[in-house]
This record gives sequence, structure tokens and C-alpha cells, in this order.
Amino acid sequence: MSVRFWEPGKEFQRIETEVMEAMRDVLSKGDLIMRHQMLDFERNLAAFVGTADAVGVSNCTDGMRLLLEAVGIGPGDEVITVSHTFMATMAVIHQVGATPVLVDVGADHNMNVDLVEAAITPRTKAILPVYLNGRLVQMDRLMEIARSHNLLVIEDTAQALGAAYMGVRGGAWGVAGAFSFYPAKLLGAYGDAGAIVTSDAGLAARVRELRDHGRVSKTGFSGWGWNCRLDNLQAAVLDLKLRKVPQWINERRRLAALYDEELADVEGVKRPPGPDGGPFFDIYQNYVIEADRRDALAESLGKKGIETLVSPGPVPNHKQPVGLDHFKLPRTESLCDHVLSLPLNNELDEAQVLEVAGAIKDFYS
Ligand SMILES: Cc1ncc(COP(=O)(O)O)c(C=O)c1O
Repeated sequence: MSVRFWEPGKEFQRIETEVMEAMRDVLSKGDLIMRHQMLDFERNLAAFVGTADAVGVSNCTDGMRLLLEAVGIGPGDEVITVSHTFMATMAVIHQVGATPVLVDVGADHNMNVDLVEAAITPRTKAILPVYLNGRLVQMDRLMEIARSHNLLVIEDTAQALGAAYMGVRGGAWGVAGAFSFYPAKLLGAYGDAGAIVTSDAGLAARVRELRDHGRVSKTGFSGWGWNCRLDNLQAAVLDLKLRKVPQWINERRRLAALYDEELADVEGVKRPPGPDGGPFFDIYQNYVIEADRRDALAESLGKKGIETLVSPGPVPNHKQPVGLDHFKLPRTESLCDHVLSLPLNNELDEAQVLEVAGAIKDFYS
């Protein structure tokens, strides 16, 4: 492949010395489960996001599920979210016994806030916005709707570490947010990892119990819990990589602007919102175009050694066999036929962006 979609091996090689030093420290001290490296990472992540606390967990999916359980959402409750996300967002609502209520997305592929009020019923307990591709939702309006209907907002910030709206970062708007450190994310672990962030001390304490079997002291338990801890070794690596995140975000935004410039006049391609996005500060976890003849374009790029990704899609999540295909979401369904994520990772360079853009221009010319 001449342009890989993501390059975890290349990134490791660039920061190998620091990573191995951090790992050696953890391993030689035997600091394996919930030791100071994880506590340091939790403190530094909360400071970065702008919340009072962060709680390391095994992955974002577990984080969201523990949050829903911790705030008491369960059977008979409804949670409003989108289908145009990764399946996990809807799955966690189902897993706690509640019902996902799906609304369509807008031009920027994220929750269309105009549609939320009509989806609220007496059973609605929470709204779960998703910051797909590293772009927030119109959170001032969404928070206002939530406040006026007495609903909780729990943010799926899996793809949006460092992204902001009106200067407030994802994870700091609602009662809590959940991050993914899956290896392909901007801040990626060497395996699965995640964290929740919140400024609600009681909620943080409850998630801390739930992630560790319901444990409240060495020998005491508050009830049933789970094992959803963040490995200390992963936390040590994430903590050192977190310091590089601002620089990685700048670089992604610069390369997104270059994609924008290069693809501006290509008929057949609709570009994502640009980096100069008014109240939006996007971090470009993904650079996603809407492409005419998407599958043929992807095949043509593939033949030139350029990896791309179709996600979500081609089958929309609510059309998968999960019992949600009664929702009619025309924009979501049409997007799944057209979205294509182009390579954008921490190791991508300008020459590769030009190569990808050139191949797209060739296809449409
Ligand atoms: C929007 C979204 N939500 C949730 C998740 C689940 O994250 P994890 O794999 O850490 O459980 C992902 C992961 O890709 C995601 O992109």
C-alpha cells in the first residue's frame, strides 16, 4: 500500500524510546493494575478535557454502559441517539435494558438537533449525542432542549478528544462523556482502552465502583459490578501520548485544510466542514467525503494502493439485525451509500494527501 489508512506501527517506531521507557518503568515496578500511572492519566485527561474527573475504563463501550447504569437508566427508559455512529452507541442503550430512539443526522453527519424535541416522550431519560469524525454537535441548543425537558446528556466522545464547540471541549458539556482509545483513534492505546470524564463527583465514584466489581474498599462491595478496568500499562502509554495530542490535532487540521483545498473543485465529491468552522473546533478523527459512485472510487483508489474506509455503512446500523429498522432516517440511509473516509492519521504527510487527492481527481476527470 502506498497510503495506509492508519499507521500504528510507524507511530510506535517514531516514539519507541519513550514508550519502551514508560513500559519498562511499569513492568519493572510491577505496577500492573490501577496504580499511579493510571491515576496520573486520569488527572491529566480531566485537565485536558476541562472536567473535574476522569475514570479509566476498559474501552468506550464499557464506559458508556457503566455511565448509563450509574445514572439509573434501564428497562422502560428511552435514550435518544443517532444511527449514524459506530454500533456501540446504540448497543449500550440496549445492554442496560433501555430503548434506543434514533434521530436523523444533518449536513455535517451529526445529530440534527432540530429533530430531537419531536423524539422526546414521557419515557425519555437521556440524550446521547455522538461526535462523529471529531466534530461536536450544536451543544448549546442540545443542552437547552435537555434542560427544558429535564433530560441527562451523556456524550459519545469516542472520536473527539480535543474537539470543542464554543470553546468547550467534548466531554465537558453533558453530565459525562466517554472516550475511546482504540488503536486507530487520535490517542490510541496498544489494545483496547477508554475513559469516562465528568465533573459530577458522585457519578465518578459510582463508575469507579462499577468498573471494579462494585468494590468500595479492600474487602467491601456496594453491590454487583463489572471488571472494566483500564490496564495500568496502557494508561502509562496513553499518558505520555496525551502530551502529543495538541500537536497531532494541529497537524490533522492542517492536512484536512489541504484535502479541502485540493478537492474544492472536484465534481462528485462533497467535502466535510472545513477547519475554520465558526464555533466548531474539529479534530478530524476522520476526513469523510460524500462521493458519487463511492464504491467505484474506493476500488479505484485501492488499485493505486490507497486504503479507504466505509463507516458507518454500507448497511446503516439501524438496518442491521438489531430490531431497529422501523426508524426511517433518510439522510442516514443516503449517507451510508456515499461516505468514504480518506487516510488521515498521526503519521500522514502532505505528499500523501496530494497523492490521494490526485487519485480522486483522476477518477472523476
Ligand atoms: C462513535 C463511537 N462510539 C463508540 C465506540 C466504541 O469504542 P470502543 O471500541 O473503545 O469500545 C467507537 C469506536 O470506534 C466509536 O467510534
